[in-house]
Amino acid sequence: MLGRAVAAEWRRRGAAVLALSRAQADICRPADLRSWARSFRPELLINCAAFTRVDDCEREREAAFAANGEGAGHVAAAAGEVGARLLHVSSDYVFDGAARAPYTEDDATAPLSVYGESKLEGERRVLALPRTCVVRTSWLFGPGGPNFVRAIAGQIARRTEGSDSSALRVVADQVGCPTYTPYLARALWDLAGRRHEGVVHYRNREAVSWHGFALAIAGQTGVRVEILPVATADVSRPAPRPPYSVLDVARFERLAGRPVESWSCGLREYLDSFR
Ligand SMILES: NC(=O)c1ccc[n+]([C@@H]2O[C@H](COP(=O)([O-])OP(=O)(O)OC[C@H]3O[C@@H](n4cnc5c(N)ncnc54)[C@H](OP(=O)(O)O)[C@@H]3O)[C@@H](O)[C@H]2O)c1
Repeated sequence: MLGRAVAAEWRRRGAAVLALSRAQADICRPADLRSWARSFRPELLINCAAFTRVDDCEREREAAFAANGEGAGHVAAAAGEVGARLLHVSSDYVFDGAARAPYTEDDATAPLSVYGESKLEGERRVLALPRTCVVRTSWLFGPGGPNFVRAIAGQIARRTEGSDSSALRVVADQVGCPTYTPYLARALWDLAGRRHEGVVHYRNREAVSWHGFALAIAGQTGVRVEILPVATADVSRPAPRPPYSVLDVARFERLAGRPVESWSCGLREYLDSFR
């Protein structure tokens, strides 16, 4: 999902882009990454690849660490070998969600899930090398991947078609910030230009619960459906989620010299693309 948005953003800016799929470049295979880096000689590598199925990570710990931990390190090493800078994408799930104010880049990490642990391991490996920047983000939606907006829009469509008349139930006690992938791609472009090294947080505004986000999706589709708030405790899922994962974006806004975008504009654009 994010990889497509990033390739589109760089192409739109006139950059020469080599966008590699998993079949072309498995980040668990360092020799392949080195070979691509030596032949393309990039100025910048952007790692959007990850094992992102959060619940599956709980039972596939080794595979999660192989991609999100060691794999991230292999990408950083390949970048380093050809003198390229690296932008590596990480996650709000490195935090435990116990805070009640936005997490800054310097706040203590304490992942609750295997996915979060493995992403944190990736950050450590990437940041151990020079010319690297870790961009933590949250709640992505956009073209090209399964995501919450697509899932809710699909559920709403089933109810308008009449194939399902039950009320939608969505978790109301997890709060975070949705982020539209084309906006994140633009943010990555801005950060690449600043040559920042270290950790930066980027997400869209405003903070909302999944339930509030579902109401916004339904509101923008113009369809009246019943969406009931439920508690995390009532929804059994293998991986625990942070109850509060709002990232502080003051550092990004200072570096980029602009405020972060509102997810509601991205949501409108994304839903329009369905029609
Ligand atoms: N989605 C979110 O809400 C969210 C939130 C915070 C941070 N992030 C981070 O944002 C980044 C992009 O996420 P996304 O939502 O765009 O994820 P995505 O749509 O799942 O894309 C990840 C891509 O990585 C590929 N991949 C997995 N293992 C690989 C490997 N060993 N070698 C090469 N490619 C591999 C996947 O291929 P397959 O499909 O074949 O497995 C998939 O194409 C990730 O770093 C993710 O951790 C995502």
